Amino acid sequence: MCGIVGYVGKRNAKDVILDGLKRLEYRGYDSAGIALVRNGSVEIRQKVGEIRNLEELLDNESRRGISFESYTGIGHTRWATHGAPSDINAHPHADQSGTVAIVHNGIIENFVELKERLTRQYHVHFRSETDSEVIAQLIGIYMRDAESLEDAVYAATQDMTGAYAFAVISSKDPNKIVAVRKDAPLIAGIGKGENFIASDIPALLKYCKEIYLIENGEMVVVTADRIDIFDENRNPVRREVFHVTWDVDAAEKEGYPHFMLKEIYEQPKAIEETIARRLDEAGNIRLDGISLTKEDLANISRIYIVACGAAYPAGLVGKFIIEKLAKIPVEVDVASEFRYRDPLVDERTLFIAISQSGETLDTLAALRAAKAKGARVLSVVNVVGSSVARESDDVFYTWAGPEIAVASTKAYTTQLTCMYLLALHMGRTLGTISETDYHALLAALREIPGKLADYLRDVREVEALAKILYTRDQVFFIGRGLDAAVAYEGSLKLKEISYINSFAIAAGELKHGTIALMEPGTLVLCLATQDALYEKMLSNIQEIKARGAHVLTVAKAGNRAVEAQSNEVIYIPDCRDELTPLLSVVPLQLFAYDVAKERGCNIDKPKNLAKSVTVE
Ligand code: AGP
Repeated sequence: MCGIVGYVGKRNAKDVILDGLKRLEYRGYDSAGIALVRNGSVEIRQKVGEIRNLEELLDNESRRGISFESYTGIGHTRWATHGAPSDINAHPHADQSGTVAIVHNGIIENFVELKERLTRQYHVHFRSETDSEVIAQLIGIYMRDAESLEDAVYAATQDMTGAYAFAVISSKDPNKIVAVRKDAPLIAGIGKGENFIASDIPALLKYCKEIYLIENGEMVVVTADRIDIFDENRNPVRREVFHVTWDVDAAEKEGYPHFMLKEIYEQPKAIEETIARRLDEAGNIRLDGISLTKEDLANISRIYIVACGAAYPAGLVGKFIIEKLAKIPVEVDVASEFRYRDPLVDERTLFIAISQSGETLDTLAALRAAKAKGARVLSVVNVVGSSVARESDDVFYTWAGPEIAVASTKAYTTQLTCMYLLALHMGRTLGTISETDYHALLAALREIPGKLADYLRDVREVEALAKILYTRDQVFFIGRGLDAAVAYEGSLKLKEISYINSFAIAAGELKHGTIALMEPGTLVLCLATQDALYEKMLSNIQEIKARGAHVLTVAKAGNRAVEAQSNEVIYIPDCRDELTPLLSVVPLQLFAYDVAKERGCNIDKPKNLAKSVTVE
């Protein structure tokens, strides 16, 4: 959620840090700041609002002759947890001596107790409302007697509980950054005569493509010439270099007006890539590094699919297809509920975590809860080397590439793709589907990228509909079976980027209460792609039509009957019922995008939202 960037080396640290912070803006934030070691002191500047406010502050001071030339510094973009967004609550935070500065991502859970102790014992006067300032004050106290910054940092971490990644600089140990990782992302970038730290890869891509992934509990000490990693007992750690294959452009918009639109159009390639990497020479599925043998699968009594946000309806599709093909019971849960209901998990449980960022703390915590009860953990993740990936027994990567827009699109459809591949592998391995069915469904899956690319060639009808319907202040999404799962995702897309109050419900449930809300003109998006449920769905459409609803239906090409009951119909390419979610979600993504555009919303960075929610 918060962005961290640090630099030690030969360049002007201020420029490198501000540039890195801008590449993390997509993660969502409400204030920004920078701390630089110079002339025996630590200069800190923080500003609420966008990074450009901080730049303006720095430029104004520079024009008044204040120099910010420095070769060691840290910077931060904050997404408020404790303390409202404000200048004083923005990071970096300093200790009372002004010789230590920190930037922090996460939550210090025992910060109240630590604040009381520091105030009582050391008469520390806290300036901000944040939990993070406690880290700076604590290190500042330990620095009084420590031989090095890392000694003081290590001592401070022994007093802290919670989830955090933080970075520290000090004018008492000036050419160094010390950073620590516990349940929040942290990487170190390897340069020549310069080194970096950051919370996410895009921040460093302009300067380096070789990085160290810092593991939980580890401390990293960074100077211009060295990067040293230590485990939680301060033993030196040898870490493999991770070579980043993305380039800066891949993380840029490539000519699209928004990252979200770019990522919607990248879906054919992303789905194709996610499939292609799992096919052997004979065109059969091999789960690249995951061994789920017949014995393994036969031993599974229950599968939990646990996720948050868009990944949850992806899990609903996963449930449908895994139960249909592998005949293994599947439960789907939101992570924030799973971990607190003492779930029935044991050694015969397969826990599947779905997470684009791999840093969602609710999902990570649920994974740990399941693991502690003996479950085998398989995660479906987009960010390579993320926390969820590193704590899983097996990882099934969605090869979607960097997803920058807060609203998930290509990550969602590649998550679905992974569900289909897993279900097909399980069904074939268990013999619960025939070879004929296996090959037929896999062949149909491989046709989806082409069908989707064809559909995306002309989507002007969706844009035209958005121009008519964007003023609605409430929208319903309904469907049955797989269409219900997609309705949830379509509703989430619309609400999170257009701020319209949208609501999804299984169509059969309408008559149990929600239909009371139907008024003449109420906009209802109806998904009617499931041949097997079509007649039932038609009845539901007639129910709401009879009450004056404005019906916008998504149906498979060739289904003309639905037109008589709809105000408008959006057709998707024909395909097997099981695979329609990979296609039917895309007009809903585009509808959300076009409506948000008409409403002048901040599409890539919606208000109050972040790309990765690393707090509870
Ligand atoms: C979806 O469009 C949102 N960005 C959000 O709900 C997201 O899906 C959720 O926060 C989970 O994120 P994750 O997939 O990175 O775990």
